[in-house]
Amino acid sequence: MLKTESKMDLGVLCCPTCNTSVHLRDETRISCNSCHVSYPVRDQVPIMLDAESDRMFQNEEKECKGAELKKRSRGWIAYLYRILKAPSPTLIKKNIQHVIDLVHKDNPRAIILEIGSGHHQRNDVINLDIQMNREVDIVADAHKLPFASQSVDGIIAATLMEHVQNPGVILTEMKRVLKPGGYIYISMPFCYPYHEAPSDYWRASIKGLRYLCKDFEQVATGTEMGPASVFSVFLRAFLATLFSLGRYPIYRVLLEVFGWVTFPLKYLDLILHGYGPSDMDGVVYYIGRSKGMGK
Ligand SMILES: C[S@@+](CC[C@H](N)C(=O)[O-])C[C@H]1O[C@@H](n2cnc3c(N)ncnc32)[C@H](O)[C@@H]1O
Ligand SMILES: [Zn+2]
Repeated sequence: MLKTESKMDLGVLCCPTCNTSVHLRDETRISCNSCHVSYPVRDQVPIMLDAESDRMFQNEEKECKGAELKKRSRGWIAYLYRILKAPSPTLIKKNIQHVIDLVHKDNPRAIILEIGSGHHQRNDVINLDIQMNREVDIVADAHKLPFASQSVDGIIAATLMEHVQNPGVILTEMKRVLKPGGYIYISMPFCYPYHEAPSDYWRASIKGLRYLCKDFEQVATGTEMGPASVFSVFLRAFLATLFSLGRYPIYRVLLEVFGWVTFPLKYLDLILHGYGPSDMDGVVYYIGRSKGMGK
């Protein structure tokens, strides 16, 4: 039994190596019907990563600035970090539910996929991420979606694109997998400090997102995080840098310490977000529809 079984048929999945159909060989493996590569199933979650994606992910994890710290942060250090942890420095208004509602309006049994879902857990969405966690339904690389062409009705990619090596390839994959008239939602930071998951490569303005999504029909774009949140998150990082003595572990602790002082600034966004022209969009979004006959 796979975690995805209540959300979609196995027929929707395909082999990320050769893009053809797969079958469940037994409880622990999924096999390709064509190239015969097989993929493990762990805790009912198919791990649909080909060798190249697996290698790329391992390298990115190794190169993380925080990798050493993560290894050492066990026991009381992890406990201290948890109790020191400051409230979020930003206010964010995500438009994901709006897209889910748009897709479900046409078809209540629609298949919606979130790529780079992290710890999001939605029962009406297939949660896919390159890292295994309790919430994911499928482990896969968004550059090689293990889904048949024109098989899904909606795709969400919330703050994923800055973490991938090649956003253009992912847009091509989204286009392939989406049914004609299907919806996409993409959000991406424009003004935001470097943050790893497991890497961080890109930023985009609304214009940049529009260009990235040029093969789709635009439904809406806008900003999800205002200038006060941007100021709050950069001020916290600036103060932590200033007093870090040039040491990364100290910087990480100070982020939390200064986070307690600076986080209330974000509430200015209750007035400033959407207040008027700002050159300090924190996170921008794009909602689009795949071209072709609408539903
Ligand atoms: C910043 S988190 C966003 C999580 C969630 N979408 C949200 O909005 O809170 C980025 C997520 O993308 C995942 N990710 C990074 N590279 C990926 C890739 N190539 N394929 C699939 N997921 C990836 C990371 O593991 C991480 O969970
Ligand atoms: Zn194959």
